[in-house]
Amino acid sequence: NTIPEVESLLQKMTLAEKIGQLNLLTPGGGVATGSVVSEDVEGKIKAGEVGGIFGVTGPDKVRKAQEIAVNSSRLKIPLLIGSDVIHGYKTTFPIPLGSASSWDMELIKQVAQTAAKEATADGINWNFSPMVDIARDPRWGRIAEGAGEDPYLGSAIATAMVQGYQGSDLTAPNTMLACVKHLALYGAVEGGRDYNSVDMGKVKMFNQYLPPYKAAVDAGVASAMTSFNDVDGVPASGNKWLITDLLRKRWGFQGFVVSDYTSVNEMIAHGLGDLQAVSAQAITAGLDMDMVGEGFLTTLKKSLDEGKVTEAAITNACRRILEAKHKLGLFDDPFRYSDEKRPEKDILTDENRNLARKVAAHSFVLLKTHHNTLPLKKTAKIALIGPLADSRNNMLGTWAPTGDPELAVTVLEGFKKVAPDAAIRYAKGANISNDTVMAKNVNVFGPKIEIDKRSPETLLNEALEVAKASDAIVAVVGEASEMTGEAASRTDISIPDAQKKLIQALVKTGKPVVLVLMSGRPLTIETEFKLPVSILQVWHPGVEAGNAIADVVFGDYNPSGKLTATWPRSVGQIPIYHSMKNTGRPAESQAFQKFKSNYLDAPNSPLLPFGYGLSYTEFEYSNLKLNKSEIGRDEALTVSVNLKNTGNFDGEEVVQLYLRDVVRSITPPKRELKGFRKEFLKKGEQKMVTLELQPEDLKFYNSELDFVADPGEFEVFVGTDSDALLKTTFTLK
Ligand code: IFM
Repeated sequence: NTIPEVESLLQKMTLAEKIGQLNLLTPGGGVATGSVVSEDVEGKIKAGEVGGIFGVTGPDKVRKAQEIAVNSSRLKIPLLIGSDVIHGYKTTFPIPLGSASSWDMELIKQVAQTAAKEATADGINWNFSPMVDIARDPRWGRIAEGAGEDPYLGSAIATAMVQGYQGSDLTAPNTMLACVKHLALYGAVEGGRDYNSVDMGKVKMFNQYLPPYKAAVDAGVASAMTSFNDVDGVPASGNKWLITDLLRKRWGFQGFVVSDYTSVNEMIAHGLGDLQAVSAQAITAGLDMDMVGEGFLTTLKKSLDEGKVTEAAITNACRRILEAKHKLGLFDDPFRYSDEKRPEKDILTDENRNLARKVAAHSFVLLKTHHNTLPLKKTAKIALIGPLADSRNNMLGTWAPTGDPELAVTVLEGFKKVAPDAAIRYAKGANISNDTVMAKNVNVFGPKIEIDKRSPETLLNEALEVAKASDAIVAVVGEASEMTGEAASRTDISIPDAQKKLIQALVKTGKPVVLVLMSGRPLTIETEFKLPVSILQVWHPGVEAGNAIADVVFGDYNPSGKLTATWPRSVGQIPIYHSMKNTGRPAESQAFQKFKSNYLDAPNSPLLPFGYGLSYTEFEYSNLKLNKSEIGRDEALTVSVNLKNTGNFDGEEVVQLYLRDVVRSITPPKRELKGFRKEFLKKGEQKMVTLELQPEDLKFYNSELDFVADPGEFEVFVGTDSDALLKTTFTLK
């Protein structure tokens, strides 16, 4: 389905102008995550050598850039204006791993809609999001940017985000092109080390890692970004199987594909040849746009002259980029996103900030309760302790380049606002980390870890003095925001030592202790978990951090988040995730069994399973039923369960459905998430919750990579997390 306007433009274009459209540049101003910042962007736009830019924001600046393109370049082709709007634009929402923990697709869609409204008001028409990489290794810093470990949940979130960004009409001024990234398997880098290699068999790829990218494609995502890693030995940006055979031919993707930041050039270091060779490989593989590296711009003509690439490959790539501009309506009005009145109207409104506060509160996961310490009374004497309790710098989390940390509400401010009658005293207690090397490495993008000039003893004594005079201690501890995210992998994912000591000392006071834990990844907290404390996991909550934490700590909102990635006991258990396989020698107990698949020094079970999360109230599950005990291939199945709120608070529960395919042609996971539903129940209320299993929920990719369901028995588990015990079975005929 060609677009006549685009085709007639293509007819007029010289080879150089076509190659120019494949060039994405940044004049700086965003986050330079590579060594290159583009030179003479203005001159290149005039010369028709640029298809899009990023790192330029504000309707005035974007208008200027478009004016240069449409007034000074020969063919007057407007620019794509990209940006990384990962978890909100100026109104920063929780990190994506946090929002995912809400398991609330409507809320996640609203986050994307709000981000689109704000970003387009500031001139952006193309967003480098959603990041849908499945991550099962919490050492990898970018686990913070995605939805966690599960392909079913990850697919639902990918769909919600694409719909939220793109809406139903891409020409509307408040919607923008989405870009699913990073294709593919970036979350499976070896050892959790960023940019590392990936080696994975196709069956695992198709069943476990590819579904969220495919879901984004099915939802109509307009663009895709390749990853830095190799897939089956070929770097993603030059991988024909990935870009052409899988993405375009098998999945029917209609949009354009952009490289990651200099990832074409990085194919040289991967060992695939010089810049001309790797650029030729990338365009031939089906890559359309080259981010920052300018390999396409500087070598494609030579490659064409030498017969190393075809003109058709260049024209096709150019066509796809022009089609994206057409989808946005840029040919009708290049200044669609340059309305100077919009920022004030649309950005950081009360409505947007209220949504950020709500989403943050919904993203928190209550990991442990002790002696009903939580929720706290709004009149209590509270010792608010910890290096993150009064830190504005660390609230937004990783990859929030468009947000402003100065606008974030600290925990101390939130407590004072939500509980004005409480007596709140603050003390820092410890540094985030006393490790100067860690501080130096983390602080590349600003002072996230500030090492206090006072001695550790002085800090601790001050905190203990405040703690002793209180009714309860709230310790806000965990990771600085830039201890997570891109190029922020860790081999030790525990709470830094300085804070561990603080926690131990606070517990020794005998006062009730609540740990408010901030992180961008699952942490190893077995030691702290055994202490007599309550633990609320709050991720990096975004611009409304302090208000949202106070809402939950003081009981205005009853926490309902559930983990979307397994929390290991130790790094030695990684990879650990809920859909692991049974093996031929499964261990039948937590105790060590010789010649079974287990460890000498630790149980197989994680500290906290996927799907886990407590509430101030309690939920009881009973009466699990199916509407049929036998189904045919094309039949759906209705699963119902009785859910009762038996505790003392109104609350929400995420009812989760897991499936086990008992016998099939390739080894099945022990259980896989295949349905969920978030329900609100008043205290004492009960209801019958129903979930539908569709025919495709029983299917998997077999050794031939056909998507099939094998007849036989299936086990259904329903409950509060991936260890759900209520079980029933059915047969697929
Ligand atoms: O979109 C990002 C990507 O996720 C990591 N490298 C840089 C890109 C553009 O900023």
